[in-house]
Amino acid sequence: MPKLTIDGKPVEVAAGTSVIKAAQTLNIPIAHYCWHEGLSVAGACRMCMVEIEKNPKLQIACNTPVAEGMVVHTNNDKVKDAVKWALDFHLINHPLDCPICDQAGECKLQDYYMNYGLYSPEMNQRKVKKSKAMSLGDRVVLDQERCILCSRCVRFTTEVSKTHELGIFNRGDRCELSTFEGRPLNNNYSLNTVDICPVGALTSKDFRFKQRVWFLKDFETLCNGCSTGCNVTVSYNQNGVFRVRPRVNQEVNGFWMCDEGRDIYKHTNKEFRLDQVIERNDQVGGAAVKGKPVALAIQEIGKSLSATVKKGGLESIALVVTAQYTVEEYEALFELFKNTVKSPHVYYWKNNEEDFDSFDGLLNRGDKNPNTKGLSDTMTKFGFKGTWEDFEKQATSKSFQYVVVAGPEDQSAYPDLEKKLEILNKAGEVIWLSSCKNEKFKNFKWQIPMKSFLEKEGTFVNFKGIKQNIKAGMSIIPTSLSLQEFSKGVFESMGGMA
Ligand code: SF4
Ligand code: SF4
Ligand code: FES
Repeated sequence: MPKLTIDGKPVEVAAGTSVIKAAQTLNIPIAHYCWHEGLSVAGACRMCMVEIEKNPKLQIACNTPVAEGMVVHTNNDKVKDAVKWALDFHLINHPLDCPICDQAGECKLQDYYMNYGLYSPEMNQRKVKKSKAMSLGDRVVLDQERCILCSRCVRFTTEVSKTHELGIFNRGDRCELSTFEGRPLNNNYSLNTVDICPVGALTSKDFRFKQRVWFLKDFETLCNGCSTGCNVTVSYNQNGVFRVRPRVNQEVNGFWMCDEGRDIYKHTNKEFRLDQVIERNDQVGGAAVKGKPVALAIQEIGKSLSATVKKGGLESIALVVTAQYTVEEYEALFELFKNTVKSPHVYYWKNNEEDFDSFDGLLNRGDKNPNTKGLSDTMTKFGFKGTWEDFEKQATSKSFQYVVVAGPEDQSAYPDLEKKLEILNKAGEVIWLSSCKNEKFKNFKWQIPMKSFLEKEGTFVNFKGIKQNIKAGMSIIPTSLSLQEFSKGVFESMGGMA
């Protein structure tokens, strides 16, 4: 393990570590554009210049391995001047369109200009014009003039997605990034190129011009799009969620996430949410009555269940669960069913099980639930074994009086939803717990608004068995409940029956 000093601070790192990485362990920032920890080293941008004592010239920190006794300076006048000049060259042909650029506020050209630049440009030639707002594929737009040719996006498609859509064409100041002919950037990981582009050259069609980044707040959580459980950062404000980007976790998703996962926020926004209680009222011809306070609805549900239990109807209450809730929520609901409702009829509704083991070789899995393992383990812990097939058999031989359903939060992941709704509707009075609305639920006795995965805390267990926590980063539907809150409310309304 070589020992060296960087800006006077001693550090010991593994042999072969680059100077830029060693500086990172000391929280010493070194300017860089082309270097990215998840990609090979290109040494293209020359921004990461450092002075290494006994070397006649400055060196690039991204491609220089540490050595025993090395003495590195990252911030002296010589280094600052070299970075300033490198920046000046990068900006020769870069348009000054920051006010209309979506990257403004999180652009490395802007940041480094403020940190190292603050010069008056000495170039008086005209800037080379290139194409603006070119669609590269379904999700990504390129502004060729803004591209600083760092090649991060090209290396991503070569080394990570291995889809090879991007290349740098032509020579000199005519060099431009583009796609190969007939090969649009349409792989399921294309938006990672937008994340790693250090400037505003690549932008996301979904996000661009929707919101200035300084009006957004971030919080860290997990993607609930499949059983991988990628770590993500969610950007939001009072109008809802605007984007989801990957967060580094080497054990789970490395630096990346898939494009499918970028859309997971959409169903959590207000327009798709079940935002109030809906009750099918038989006294008014089965019409849907909206707006009963949630607490009152829970009280009425608890009373109906307790009246059924008291009549000895334990066999007539069933629970159907999907794998889109947290372990803590299952624990609370199963506790209620095992010890208060005392019904053995707990069934696991699995969507497209035949695809559960499919895998795209990078991150995305066929199991579109975030907590399949957490649900299976918790069912085993409580001794519940029921499957949807068992439920269907039971429901056709004798109707249940009540069926409580913890429905899927992301309904698009349940292609069998409509078919299953028909069966549920015939099985008994359905108490449907769901975060999203759907016109097709109209026959249900109760619809209770539930929190989305962005509004609650708890544990998801991914396909490998790794336990990870989701965070309650925001409140979108204030009246919505978690399964713990639902279970507690029902338990209390049932008079804490045991
Ligand atoms: S588009 Fe962005 S990531 Fe790609 S080469 Fe240009 S600056 Fe680098
Ligand atoms: S791989 Fe799965 S968990 Fe990861 S981002 Fe894609 S959908 Fe989300
Ligand atoms: S970051 Fe080192 S040369 Fe680009």
